[in-house]
Amino acid sequence: MKRLAVFTMAVISTGFLATAEYAGAIDTYTVGDAASGIASSRHNLGATGFFTITSNTTEICVFCHTPHHANRDGGIKPLWNRFSANSAAFVAYGPTMADELITGSVIGSSSLACLSCHDGIVTFDSLINAPGKAGVTQTGTDRGWDFYDFSGRTADYITDPSLSIGRDLSNDHPISVPYNEFTAGLRPMDTIISDIDLADGLNVGALQFGSGNLDRNLWAVMGYISDEATIRDLLRVTDGQLRVECASCHDPHFNNKSWTEVDYTYGEGVQNQRFETNGLFLRRVGGNSASGLCRTCHNK
Ligand code: HEC
Ligand code: HEC
Ligand code: HEC
Ligand code: HEC
Repeated sequence: MKRLAVFTMAVISTGFLATAEYAGAIDTYTVGDAASGIASSRHNLGATGFFTITSNTTEICVFCHTPHHANRDGGIKPLWNRFSANSAAFVAYGPTMADELITGSVIGSSSLACLSCHDGIVTFDSLINAPGKAGVTQTGTDRGWDFYDFSGRTADYITDPSLSIGRDLSNDHPISVPYNEFTAGLRPMDTIISDIDLADGLNVGALQFGSGNLDRNLWAVMGYISDEATIRDLLRVTDGQLRVECASCHDPHFNNKSWTEVDYTYGEGVQNQRFETNGLFLRRVGGNSASGLCRTCHNK
């Protein structure tokens, strides 16, 4: 019954939004939509991808996951198929203004996962379990594959300075920081995300912006666009505490096509696939329009 209700709602609202849509063909997403699209995103590094790719496999998930023989170093999950530097290799944020001390030893598993490419060091093909019968190495050997982008042969690690986060995390939003309510203006953990009114106090025009995403405040959680998720669902457990990790703000599978602003800054108006963004894989529908992503956690 519930499924049917969600479906009907989706049809009604899609019908409505179709008329309100503008030329930029921005996806508006409705509750229950899948947070999918990795195949056409920059995170498809296999032969079927569009951006940085290799001809050595058509598999997509293999660059991050494997069904067997996964990496267990430092408790890394889920079913991680890559070599990953352990947390001692990273410089952490240090003390926050609220005096929460973040040290390298607690960098959480899902952040180590992203950083096993976005440190700008580990190569894309440093795989544990290679496709098919090409072999298992628990240390994640570089498979010696060549990678190509639109300009020809390219490096097999992240070179773009803005996409390379590096191993010094002291200049990034605190990662692996516990979510302590009553610091930094943080909302209670059990706040239902879609109940937060992000348009409150803004110029009325903000209500129409991005098909009203500030009003709806929908986020991708567990692979679906949800209106029931709470802030708690964005957090990940490390050392027995709920913390903010890379995956709190980003979903690496969600080719988020709902953020006009970031498309313009990347594309400079050129309708060319290579310039298109994946909405920076942000979990929020509308990305960080009107800083809606930041203001979902911080009541500022
Ligand atoms: C670029 C790396 C990357 C690729 C490629 C990738 N994943 Fe993931 N996946 C992750 C990370 C990181 C997490 C943990 C995210 C989190 O904590 O929410 C994850 C979590 C998951 C989860 C559990 C959480 C959820 O969102 O449902 C599933 C299921 C999953 N991946 C399936 C897949 C499948 C199937 C593919 C291939 C079609 C794939 N992934 C490709 C990085 C990747
Ligand atoms: C608190 C939320 C948050 C966390 C945690 C977070 N990011 Fe981001 N990230 C963002 C936002 C928002 C942007 C878009 C910034 C902009 O407008 O360009 C972004 C952008 C990026 C970019 C594109 C480069 C840029 O700055 O525009 C990369 C790559 C990235 N993040 C990777 C990561 C990785 C890896 C981690 C974990 C080490 C991480 N992010 C943790 C919110 C976050
Ligand atoms: C297997 C390697 C790999 C892993 C693991 C990985 N990424 Fe990426 N990511 C890439 C590559 C390659 C690009 C595209 C680089 C380019 O265009 O030069 C990219 C691009 C991005 C971008 C920019 C997308 C855009 O809109 O242009 C963001 C943001 C990002 N990744 C975040 C993450 C986060 C967060 C995680 C973990 C949840 C993660 N990535 C895990 C390889 C990876
Ligand atoms: C998933 C929830 C979440 C999101 C989204 C989020 N933050 Fe945070 N932020 C936190 C937590 C938790 C802390 C740590 C508070 C503490 O000191 O205990 C924090 C701390 C901060 C701090 C203080 C750092 C210090 O040294 O004390 C700033 C500034 C900040 N965030 C800005 C931002 C901005 C800007 C964005 C959007 C790009 C953002 N946050 C998005 C949860 C979040």
